Amino acid sequence: VVSTAALVPAAGRGDRLGAGIPKALQPVCGVPLLVHALRALLAAPSVALVAVAAPPGDVQRVRDLVAAHLGDPKPVLVVAGGPSRQASVAAALGVLPADVDVVVVHDAARAFAPADLVETVVAAVRAGADAVVPGLPVTDTIRRVGLDGRGLGTVDRADLRSVQTPQAFSRSVLEAGHAAAVDEETDDAALVERIGGRVVVVVGSDEAFKVTRPIDLVLAEALVRQRQETG
Ligand code: C5P
Repeated sequence: VVSTAALVPAAGRGDRLGAGIPKALQPVCGVPLLVHALRALLAAPSVALVAVAAPPGDVQRVRDLVAAHLGDPKPVLVVAGGPSRQASVAAALGVLPADVDVVVVHDAARAFAPADLVETVVAAVRAGADAVVPGLPVTDTIRRVGLDGRGLGTVDRADLRSVQTPQAFSRSVLEAGHAAAVDEETDDAALVERIGGRVVVVVGSDEAFKVTRPIDLVLAEALVRQRQETG
């Protein structure tokens, strides 16, 4: 039997959010961000189990949250995350059962990504891709600046994409990417590309935005309320 697992890096400190608690535990409409993220992943039919990389000091707290909020029959494993996102993903990779052959990596901070985006990226890996990531066109004008703040020119945005999660991978390719990692990358697709893997970009979702700054919490609360109203 082969199956798909989701890994959730959730060990970030959330300094840019400024709330003084780990970002994954930040409540949105009374429910921690991580619980919102787990609900979306567990709602994706292809996902058989989830492994969460929790803030190292909050592993038991996260286990308690999972038990309190999620009555799901699918297993949710909780491990201690690491000092970087990459280390947190590696820690979660380390607890996957042998029968898992496709891995979804999904930021806890992108808690409102639609379940059908998970299905889209998984299906594309099952169809033969090494790595599949969602991306959206860049809407701002992008300018390079030197260390002294001097403008170094505008970048043509036509071929740029803002890359999101959920990202799906062939497990063996993802593990090889992590094994070969030298630098810290900001996502797993970059690790796969470094070892020559091909990364396919599919159309992302506005709802897969990353909760990073305080303004993102305003959007998150509004989105949850709108979903509650529309059922
Ligand atoms: O910091 P950033 O917003 O890029 O983090 C993206 C995701 O990686 C978040 O869900 C965060 O919790 C996670 N992360 C982690 N371990 C770290 C740093 C970030 O799991 N040490």
